[in-house]
Amino acid sequence: EKIVAFQETLLKWYDNNKRNLPWRRDHDPYHIWISEIMLQQTQVQTVIPYYERFMKLFPTVQALANADEAILMKVWEGLGYYSRARNLQKAAQQIVNDYNGQWPTTVKELQELSGIGPYTAGAIASIAFNKPVPAVDGNALRVFARLLEINEDIAKPQTRKLFENIIKKLMPKNRPGDFNQAIMDLGASYMSAKNYDSENSPVKLFNQAYLDGVEDNYPVKTKK
Ligand code: ADE
Repeated sequence: EKIVAFQETLLKWYDNNKRNLPWRRDHDPYHIWISEIMLQQTQVQTVIPYYERFMKLFPTVQALANADEAILMKVWEGLGYYSRARNLQKAAQQIVNDYNGQWPTTVKELQELSGIGPYTAGAIASIAFNKPVPAVDGNALRVFARLLEINEDIAKPQTRKLFENIIKKLMPKNRPGDFNQAIMDLGASYMSAKNYDSENSPVKLFNQAYLDGVEDNYPVKTKK
């Protein structure tokens, strides 16, 4: 079946080509969370040294909850959007105080934590807790819009929900976190916003817009 062939092709490529990133060494939700928040407005290569320093200073959710605010802000310096760092500490305190240090595992509970929206909740639930839920950021919107020739405007907030429902049906139940991260790597390597190289993409035979020669039309995105 086509969906299974797509999953197998994508995951096999990921197994052989995944980027070696420090937050991929394990499935600790704390590691996944910090990396995903840092990656929201900052490129992977920039994030790596920040991530490493952060983990040395605040190796656990308890350490972050108790962190000195001035030190926290100092470590964050250069990443910008300081509200991200403040929300991190608030959420760490919620986990320590409300959950006794034990991470909640559902998307719903995760979204109640400070600074965690649908994308981050999906990333943590799938990568750390193996839940079959999508993690839809701008990258995933772009990739799936092309693969499936989805005509919905990706600039509209309500479009994310529609993509979530479509992606859910495409995810393998056994490796949802790897599937989501494979899409991130695929987007970074072959379908970035600035240039794409569908000819050499591992899933070119599943890329409808490429097969139809209409890639330039996707994603559909109105200027705001
Ligand atoms: N961008 C956002 N999340 C990512 C992740 N887990 N790995 C690589 N790039 C990402």
